[in-house]
Amino acid sequence: MSAKRILIVDDEAKMRRILELSLKSMGNTVVEASDGMEALSIVEKQPIDLVLTDLRMPRMDGIALLAALREQGVDVPVIVMTAYGTIDTAVAAMKLGAIDYIIRPFEMETVEMAVTRALAMQAAQRENRFLREEVSRGWGEFVGTSAAMQSLYELIRQVAPTRSNAFIVGDTGTGKELVARAIHEASGRTGLFVPINCAAIPAELLESELFGHVKGAFTGAVRDRVGKCELASGGTVFLDEITEMPAHLQVKLLRVLQEGCIERLGSNGTIPVDLRVVSATNRDLQQAVESGALRRDLYFRLNVVRIDVPRLRDRHGDIALLANHFLHKHALELGRATPRLMSHVLQRLESYEWPGNVRELENIMERAVVLCRSGEITLAHLPAELSSESPGRSSSSSALADDPAIDGPLDLKARVEGLECRLIKAALERSANNKAAAARLLGISERTLWYKLKMYKVGS
Ligand SMILES: Nc1ncnc2c1ncn2[C@@H]1O[C@H](COP(=O)(O)OP(=O)(O)OP(=O)(O)O)[C@@H](O)[C@H]1O
Ligand SMILES: [Mg+2]
Repeated sequence: MSAKRILIVDDEAKMRRILELSLKSMGNTVVEASDGMEALSIVEKQPIDLVLTDLRMPRMDGIALLAALREQGVDVPVIVMTAYGTIDTAVAAMKLGAIDYIIRPFEMETVEMAVTRALAMQAAQRENRFLREEVSRGWGEFVGTSAAMQSLYELIRQVAPTRSNAFIVGDTGTGKELVARAIHEASGRTGLFVPINCAAIPAELLESELFGHVKGAFTGAVRDRVGKCELASGGTVFLDEITEMPAHLQVKLLRVLQEGCIERLGSNGTIPVDLRVVSATNRDLQQAVESGALRRDLYFRLNVVRIDVPRLRDRHGDIALLANHFLHKHALELGRATPRLMSHVLQRLESYEWPGNVRELENIMERAVVLCRSGEITLAHLPAELSSESPGRSSSSSALADDPAIDGPLDLKARVEGLECRLIKAALERSANNKAAAARLLGISERTLWYKLKMYKVGS
C-alpha cells in the first residue's frame, strides 16, 4: 500500500510520539493535533487518509470532532481510542461513523492492524461507490457506459457552464431532451429550463407561445401572457424540432438573440432577456439548412456547439444496462419484483436495429414487465418484430401485404384516405408511437401528421 497521511489527535504529547513512531515505521506520513479543533483545521487544509483520535480531550473531544467531520461532509475514516471502561462512548463514536475503535491500553500491533484494516476498507468502499455511480450505470439521469456515451457526458460537462448556444442532433428517441436538461442542470444557471416543441404547436399559436402577447393583441387574447423565452430568461430555453419553426418566427427569434430583448405580441415595449438556447432536431441538420427549413443566419447563432447523440445500435454495450434499468423502473412502478432478462432474450435485443432508439427499448421493456408473470422475461414477452426469427426487420411491411389494391369499389378519395390512414398507423407502430419519427418515416412534417391524426381520429 502506498504511503498514507495519518492524523493523530491526542492531548498527550507522549502518546502522540509513540503512535507516530509506529505509524511511520509502517511507511505512513504522520500529522499531529492536540485536540479536535486543531484536527478539524488540519483536515480542512490538507488531504488526510485516516484519523486516529483520542476521545477525551480539552476544547473539542473526539465525539465532537466526529460530528463536525460528518456535518462538513468530510469523507475520511476515523479510528477512536478509548479507555477501558468507557465502551459506551466508543459505541457512540461508531454510531457517528467511526470506522473502528481501540481500547487502551493497547499493544502497537493492535493499532497497526486497525489502521491497515481501516485503510483497506476505505479503499474498497471508494471503489464500490465509484463503480456504482460512474462505471456501472452512467452519469446523472443517463444510463450507458459505452465510449460514445462517455464522450457525450464529457462534452456536456464542458459546454454546460459556458454561455454558448448548443445544437443537439440525433435520431428519434436517442435522448436529446435528456441532454438538453443535463446541459441546463450542469450550467449553474438559476433560471428555469423551458422546453418548446416547435412541431407540436400549431403555427398560429407558436409566436405567442414563444414571445408572449398583451391583452387584445389578437382575437382571443383576453389577458397578457408571458412567452416561453421570457420565462426562460436566466435559464435555458429548449427549442425542440427547431426546423419546424415557420420562417417568419425564425427571423424574429434571430432578432431576439441579437438584441437580447423581446417584444410581446401587440406591445411596443421591449423586455431584456438573458437567454441560453439549446436546440434539437432529428433531421439531417446540413440538409435542413440547405433546403431552407432552418435559416442559415439563425443556424449560425444556434449551432455554436454541436452535440451528436449516438444511436442505440451504435452502442451495443449499453443495451443490457438500459434494458435492466427499464425493467427495474417499470417493475417498481407496478410494485413487482424486477424480472430477470434471459440471456437469449438479451442477445435478441442486442442484434435488433432499434429505429426508435432508447425510447423504443423503454416501451418494449415496459410492455414486457406488464406481460411477464413468471419473473423471467422470455421471447414471448417481446413484440413480433423482436421475437420473430429475423431480428431487425420491422413487422409493418405487412400493413400493405394483404391489401387488395385494386379489388372493391374504385372510389379514389375513400381508397386513398384508407391507405393513408393505414400507412400512418404502420408508421406509428414502427416508431413506437413517436410522432416525430413517424412523420419522418412518412416524409411529412410533424405538424401535418398531427393534423391527419386528428382528421382520421387515430391514436392519442
Ligand atoms: N441514456 C439514457 N439513459 C436513460 N434513459 C434514456 C437515455 N436516453 C434516453 N432515455 C429515455 O428515453 C426516452 C426518450 O428520450 P428523449 O425524449 O430525450 O429522446 P429524443 O432524442 O428527444 O427523441 P425525439 O427526437 O423523438 O424527440 C426518455 O424517456 C428518456 O428519459
Ligand atoms: Mg425530443
